[in-house]
Formats: sequence, C-alpha cells, structure tokens
Amino acid sequence: MSQFDWKPEEYLQRIHAKIPRYDELQEQAIAAIPFPPERVLELGMGTGETTRRLIEAYPDAWVIGLDSSPDMVFRARQTYDDVQLARMEDPLPDGPWDLVISVLSVNDLADEQKQALFRRVRDHSRSLVIGDRFEPDQLSDLVRWCDGEVTWQADDLAVVRATY
Ligand SMILES: C[S@@+](CC[C@H](N)C(=O)[O-])C[C@H]1O[C@@H](n2cnc3c(N)ncnc32)[C@H](O)[C@@H]1O
Repeated sequence: MSQFDWKPEEYLQRIHAKIPRYDELQEQAIAAIPFPPERVLELGMGTGETTRRLIEAYPDAWVIGLDSSPDMVFRARQTYDDVQLARMEDPLPDGPWDLVISVLSVNDLADEQKQALFRRVRDHSRSLVIGDRFEPDQLSDLVRWCDGEVTWQADDLAVVRATY
C-alpha cells in the first residue's frame, strides 16, 4: 500500500473496499498475540481499529500508539490517551514492551528500514505481531528478518508473530 493519505473519516469505508478481508486480518492479528500484554506499542495506529480490538481482548493492556499522519493522530487522540506523532523509522518511545504490533503499516518502509526496525523491536520487546499485505518474497523476507512465524495467511494477507 502506498503512503497513506486518506482522511480518517473515510478510512474504514475505503479500507474495506480495498481489502475485503480487513476485519479478518484484524481478528487474526489479535489472535496471534502470544500472551496477555500489559505494555503495548502500536506502530501506525491510524484511527485505532487494531487498538480497539486489542483492548477488547486484553482490557488490562496499556497501548501507546504512534502514527506519522497528523490527521490520524488527531482522530486517534479523541479515543486513546497516548498517541504520538512520530515515524516508526525514527527512535521509538522508551520500552520495554510486552508487545509491538502493527497492522497494514510497515510495508511502506524500505527493506533496510524494516530490518533496522525489527532489530530495535527485538531489543526492547518480548513479542511482535505484524499483519499486512505481502508479495510472496516480501513475506519470507519479513519472517526471516524478525525471526518470526506466519500464524495466518489468506489471499495476499498474512499475520507474522515473533516471541523473543
Ligand atoms: C493503512 S493504515 C492502518 C491503520 C491501522 N493500523 C489499521 O489497521 O486500520 C496505515 C497507517 O500507518 C501510518 N504510517 C504509514 N507509514 C508510517 C511510518 N513510517 N511511521 C508511522 N506511521 C506510519 C499511516 O499514517 C496510517 O495511519
């Protein structure tokens, strides 16, 4: 998916049109979380669709989100307390984390940026869950770079989990 510039108010309608299995992807990302997390960092929070499902499944989790879009941050802050305007390729908020999670957000990064991100996540988090659209090579590279496993796959969508 190219750089995301949709308006928050149009987001859900447009993402469902683009990715008919969007809800399934979200559900499978939450299902992949390996243990009940308390401190969670979400990369590319958007309007908070992943966040909402995560907190429903794990009410004790505290989620800090970041997003590079001011519009998305403004919208997410209407519901969630801790949302930062930041890029995931820049220094991340201080950990340690039980979980770093990202749905439909990391694939705009260049390969080197993804590898650097996963190295930082590995140093500061006990687990990682990524849900996204992938080309076949992209998926195998990502699994290798984060030392993870594919927990769900359908069409060009997949969820990858790593536990450190
Ligand atoms: C397709 S939306 C996904 C939002 C949400 N995770 C979901 O599943 O509905 C991608 C989000 O990632 C954000 N994003 C894209 N590149 C980013 C980057 N390098 N750093 C931080 N956020 C980024 C976009 O602004 C957008 O809000």
